[in-house]
Amino acid sequence: MAQDSRPLFIILLGPPGAGKGTQARRLAERLGLPHISSGDLFREHLKNQTPLGQLAQQYMSKGELVPDEVTIGMIKDRLARPDAQRGAILDGFPRTPAQAQALDALLAERCARVVVPYIRVPEEELIARLSGRLTCRAHGHVFHVRYNPPKQPGVCDYDGSELYQRDDDKPETVRRRIQVYHEQTAPLIDYYRQRCVLVEVNGDAPLDEVTQALLEAVQGRGA
Ligand code: AP5
Repeated sequence: MAQDSRPLFIILLGPPGAGKGTQARRLAERLGLPHISSGDLFREHLKNQTPLGQLAQQYMSKGELVPDEVTIGMIKDRLARPDAQRGAILDGFPRTPAQAQALDALLAERCARVVVPYIRVPEEELIARLSGRLTCRAHGHVFHVRYNPPKQPGVCDYDGSELYQRDDDKPETVRRRIQVYHEQTAPLIDYYRQRCVLVEVNGDAPLDEVTQALLEAVQGRGA
């Protein structure tokens, strides 16, 4: 049978701390697709002190969403790059109905295949994960003090750079991010379910098991 040559977009949906970034990196490696994280793109802009980074920081530091028009423009630019022509693993985008509609229009133009794994994790576990998360300064690799510790404390296994705690992983900001998720992003679960592209995956399991479940979910959709 001829291979499906349409681009493949895997949209990871789930609350803050569900493991979207961790699993997106693994899927990207396994499937040979780029990992596109809206949060990482904003943090990159912030590191480079661009006007977009400075604007985004005003929202990120409070756990609020960056306005749709800014976020959609940034992702459109990213998806136009050559490495995303075969598809991508999207992590953290879309996060509002307006973002989902903009993405739908873009992917329809490309006749893309779409799978939306929804990673489910209980709320108390999210808080434990975010409060112990360590992030690498150079490339955003993610560890956890207990669940996924680096080989050498404070040092990234992959590039040797310093590990730090994200500003928005402080308890009060984490609570707000989870609330914002329920208000603005959780409605996308039904949005994608109605389009028959949603697959629920249990994210409250060891890292390798979640990766396996995600790969099966993607393959089960013929992708
Ligand atoms: P963003 O960076 O996207 O943050 P998030 O969605 O809140 O997601 P996180 O990165 O916190 O969690 P994750 O699900 O990736 O989990 P991770 O793999 O790291 O967004 C940050 C901010 O940017 C937003 O608040 C907003 O202001 C702005 N923004 C971004 N996108 C936007 C958009 N589209 N529109 C508007 N604004 C936007 O894992 C978490 C921890 O758990 C790690 O320590 C990890 O090691 C551990 N862990 C992962 N999986 C497991 C497991 N199975 N078992 C045990 N531990 C695990």
